[in-house]
Amino acid sequence: MADDSKPPFTLTASAPLGTSGARKVYVKSFGCQMNVYDAERMADTLAPQGFVSVAAAEDADLVVLNTCHIREKAAEKVYSELGRLRVLKEAAAAEGRKVIVAVAGCVAQAEGADMVRRAPVVDIVVGPQSYHRLPELVAAAAIRPGVVDTALKAEDKFDRLVPPGREQIARRGSSAFVTIQEGCSRFCTYCVVPSTRGGEVSRPVDKVVAEVERLAAAGVREITVLGQNVNAYRGEGPDGRPWKLPRLLARLAEVPGIARLRYATSHPRAMSAELIAAHRELPQLMPYLHLPAQSGSDRILDAMNRRHTRDLYLQRLAEVRAARPDIALSSDFIVGFPGESDQDFADTMDLVERVGFASAYSFKYSPRPGTPAASMDGQVPEAVKSERLTALQAVLESQQRAFNLASVGRTVEVLFEKPGRLPGQIVGKSPHMQAVHVQAGAEMIGQIKAVRLVAVGSHSLFGEFADAVPQPIAV
Ligand code: 5AD
Ligand code: SF4
Repeated sequence: MADDSKPPFTLTASAPLGTSGARKVYVKSFGCQMNVYDAERMADTLAPQGFVSVAAAEDADLVVLNTCHIREKAAEKVYSELGRLRVLKEAAAAEGRKVIVAVAGCVAQAEGADMVRRAPVVDIVVGPQSYHRLPELVAAAAIRPGVVDTALKAEDKFDRLVPPGREQIARRGSSAFVTIQEGCSRFCTYCVVPSTRGGEVSRPVDKVVAEVERLAAAGVREITVLGQNVNAYRGEGPDGRPWKLPRLLARLAEVPGIARLRYATSHPRAMSAELIAAHRELPQLMPYLHLPAQSGSDRILDAMNRRHTRDLYLQRLAEVRAARPDIALSSDFIVGFPGESDQDFADTMDLVERVGFASAYSFKYSPRPGTPAASMDGQVPEAVKSERLTALQAVLESQQRAFNLASVGRTVEVLFEKPGRLPGQIVGKSPHMQAVHVQAGAEMIGQIKAVRLVAVGSHSLFGEFADAVPQPIAV
């Protein structure tokens, strides 16, 4: 549902917003990691225009809602958030202050100009392919609200997004996301991504390497490369030929300072022998794999147009485990897809029991407008979906707990990322993506240290430095 409306006029990007000094932007992000990355790039793109990021909408001259459309009544949530922003905007106007409200992300892409009609509080609607135009759109909206840019363009938007400065990177910490591929061309029948993010586009290798070098130079030690279908990455290499993900990962592992690499999210069909081998051969590639199964029933996988079977999924996991026996496995599941019977659901539960996941996400099927599954027969009643979700989550929770409990007593390398919940604590990630809390000062943030795991919390672990004398730990 691309909407090619353009602002009716072009302005320079420096039109004032009615405040003196630095202008303030607040970006609220919903949804996936790609949105987190996009939110950072939006802030980076606005920084040269004098925008500084603030942590609350009340303090901002520009509020950006970076929306997600993948599940639930996402659009409804955005409209209720917009109701709150209308009040805020009116209060600011009463003080003579102008606040600009922008809606970005996949709801913006799907709704386009309808948003402005339905919620006049919205000054800008900007789709994921147009974030580089934000300064222009902001300037235009300051004069004439209601600008819309939801074009799905083939060109590389990343080329035109402003890279983060050293200071911005340092503030964001030691682990960073880098989008290397956007969009999806698979058309699972429940999924809105192909229509909101467009078809699969991979960024060229040189651009990705340059971004990772910049992040590494500013102190980042861990990179998670992102794509909706990341293991199908085929970016143009410096030799002019397409490079696949394993080769890109091997190249990124050579960047000085980069100690850890991860990738998300993958499709079972694109789990190639080379990528599986990389889990054995590339020490920087962390022993963690997020591989969505969605269902354990072949009938449902077929109706979902996943184009993989339950056996193929299990086979790939067996190969990955053979390559890297300590790998932590993660997945996504949808319960209550149209036509899902008790037996289909039992097949999903069986698959989960067979694999034993370290962590996994599970969702009730949510009909997305315009997707084939939304109009399929056999929609499952809400109560049945809830019941199945509760049963599935109970098993997944207990598997996660078992995985964490089995780690206690081991010594693992932890990359420290930020202060912990309690004073005097810092928190980081184990190679298996577990959150690990340690009593230590903030000067350790950004370092990788050997930590002995001593206890489990609800979703995290507690540890102490392996070279420290054991002490009682505050849990
Ligand atoms: N309903 C429920 N879950 C969905 N997902 C994607 N679309 C839907 C939908 N319509 C889930 C899938 C996907 C994850 C990102 O969100 O499990 O892997
Ligand atoms: Fe959506 Fe399927 Fe593409 Fe994942 S692989 S983004 S679920 S269409």
